[in-house]
Amino acid sequence: MNEYLRVPDPGEGLRLHLNENTAGCSPRVLEAIRALGATDASFYPDYAAVERETAAALGVPPSRLVLLNGLDEGLHLASFAALKPVDGAPAEAIVVEPAFDMYAACAGAAGGRVVAVPPRPDFDFPTEETLAALTPRTRLVFLTNPNNPTGQRIPRAAIEAIADAAPRALVLVDEAYVDFSGETMIDGGGLDRCPNVVVGRTFAKAHGLAALRAGALVGRETTLEPILRLTPPYNLNVCAAVALRAALADPDHLRWYRDQVERSKALVYATCDRLGLHYWPSAANFVLIRVGPRATALVAALARRRIFIRDRSGEPGCAGCVRVTTGVVAHTEACLEAMEAALCDAA
Ligand SMILES: Cc1ncc(COP(=O)(O)O)c(C=O)c1O
Repeated sequence: MNEYLRVPDPGEGLRLHLNENTAGCSPRVLEAIRALGATDASFYPDYAAVERETAAALGVPPSRLVLLNGLDEGLHLASFAALKPVDGAPAEAIVVEPAFDMYAACAGAAGGRVVAVPPRPDFDFPTEETLAALTPRTRLVFLTNPNNPTGQRIPRAAIEAIADAAPRALVLVDEAYVDFSGETMIDGGGLDRCPNVVVGRTFAKAHGLAALRAGALVGRETTLEPILRLTPPYNLNVCAAVALRAALADPDHLRWYRDQVERSKALVYATCDRLGLHYWPSAANFVLIRVGPRATALVAALARRRIFIRDRSGEPGCAGCVRVTTGVVAHTEACLEAMEAALCDAA
């Protein structure tokens, strides 16, 4: 079980299976990497500038920020920090399904017991069910806003209710797709209102730095402290550090990409409406579509045309579903054309 389905040699194919940025990073990122010199490689990196600029971009003081080698590192660190045994028995981590696979993988690796909250029909956020799953052993709650793979938002009141009800737990609000949804717990004093919340961010998606690996955790200083103690001192390599600064300094590229994503989602919705396929309007850069029993065959048919989408039909609540990354409009058009042709062939 691993979220990162590795396509053998995708070559010139269209990668629409991992919610990546299909346009690529800002050209400024490549310029920044090219400008590095020999001693930039030979000296351990200095993070002062990247910490200051990232904190400013996220609207927090640097003391509330931990930079990461990708958000996955933050999931791993938070699991090890939070999931110490409770009275000699495993601590519990709540995962609201369907969820990013890394939560269960990281919680399990840290010795925790995963408590899964099943989805509601149509993926309304199961607030009462999550509250009911809390026990005196709960030490970590993973919430994803907006969710992967459904693209659905979590109401802020639900996050606050869960954080209030679990004061001994770390509530990790994974905002990997926040650049497309615009809703963050950082706004409106959320970190002070909910001191046990830590927000997870990645620069892999909207900023297109997936291969460079750059992410962040944001929280109150005392909440981050146990995580900081586990964080390797030079976890962000120098290319990622300069890339992150350059990406944050190019808001036009981000705006342009967000617009592509919005237009791509509208195209997916229109095609699904025309073909009578159910989908969930998404607050992220992908759409979950119910194509029915033909999901696995459809993914294979598209792969033969070197268009890679993700079969999510095995996930809780996702029977018959595929997930399609919605990035550059031309890529989405190519995918929709191939999907329609494959579905017609199969009919
Ligand atoms: C919900 C969620 N969290 C975290 C990540 C991982 O982010 P990163 O690439 O920064 O490790 C992903 C990547 O797909 C994701 O979907």
